[in-house]
Amino acid sequence: MSKAIKMENQMGQDNVSKSGQDFIPDELKNVQLGEDRVTVSQKQMINARADCNQLHPIKYMWAWDKYQAGCANHWMPNEINMAADINLWRDPNGLSEQERIIIERNLGFFSTADSLVANNIVLGVYRHITNPECRQYLLRQAFEEAVHTHAYQHVVESLALDQAKIFNMYREVPAVAKKANYALPFTQSLADPYFKTGTIENDQRLLRDLIAYYVVFEGIFFYVGFVQVLSMGRRNMMVGTAEQFQYILRDESMHCNFGIDMINQIKLENPHLWTKEFEKEIKQIITQGVELEHEYAADTMKDGVLGLNSDMFREYLEYIANRRFRQIGMDEAYPGATTPFPWMSEMIDLKKEKNFFETRVTEYQTGGALDWDDE
Ligand SMILES: [Fe+2]
Ligand SMILES: [Fe+2]
Repeated sequence: MSKAIKMENQMGQDNVSKSGQDFIPDELKNVQLGEDRVTVSQKQMINARADCNQLHPIKYMWAWDKYQAGCANHWMPNEINMAADINLWRDPNGLSEQERIIIERNLGFFSTADSLVANNIVLGVYRHITNPECRQYLLRQAFEEAVHTHAYQHVVESLALDQAKIFNMYREVPAVAKKANYALPFTQSLADPYFKTGTIENDQRLLRDLIAYYVVFEGIFFYVGFVQVLSMGRRNMMVGTAEQFQYILRDESMHCNFGIDMINQIKLENPHLWTKEFEKEIKQIITQGVELEHEYAADTMKDGVLGLNSDMFREYLEYIANRRFRQIGMDEAYPGATTPFPWMSEMIDLKKEKNFFETRVTEYQTGGALDWDDE
């Protein structure tokens, strides 16, 4: 070992001892030669003793499969033709005022929402999930969130929209700000450098964050915008933007399902965390999300537009929330809710919709049928 590296290593060790407590994750500590090999039984979602730097042996095949499916769905925003959208947007009679509000408002919400989701992964969740195959997916997801932010930026630039207006919407439009402020405290709780899992209270904090982000933020908060923009695409309006959103919807559907798999696996391995009290709290977190998203829907379409109105979104959000409750093993909170938008589940599967939009569809799918168990 060179003198410089030796000194650096010693300094690292000193920092550990000076802090009084050891907050350096095991996977960042110096390599010990000849340590025992990792076994599947040592691998766990949280608080694992197994080395997080070793992908094999894989324990959670669902995580590895989703990582591969995400890679097979790779796409880039600048490969989608935006010419028809640019012409329609420039035409003073091309779109109604309400339709323009829908496009701008959703770009405003999503352009920062995907950044919040990426921050939650990178600054909050990643270091507390002690499983390498899940981390592999989280890294893929973080990149996909960057692609989504890129997609919104690409649409904003293509349409020559007021960038400051769009990117500041989450600080200037109350219905958008409320959704961001709903989510941020969950990330703050995990991003604290002194936060560590390993106690019931802290493990529940992690689970709460996963539910707020994967079930509510990505699983409910995105859906009013998806329905609105995809409805325009179905009417042959803003087809390039709608195509971008369709690719994003496919990715988001996978993110949501991956998060639900993580939540259920943590629950399975740590049943003591899922108390009656905790479940009551989760019900409140999800139903609050439904209220905020309905408020967002009402705010974006005061008079109804594209054959849609805010009452239809109430029904739809309750229908989706019921599904989310079932997926994490809870009772439905809105019995009897049905979907007014049955076409949405078809939208998730691009393969069926190849000729739907009259724009160029770039297929990256290289193999392996995707298994969509939810929208
Ligand atoms: Fe995203
Ligand atoms: Fe996402």
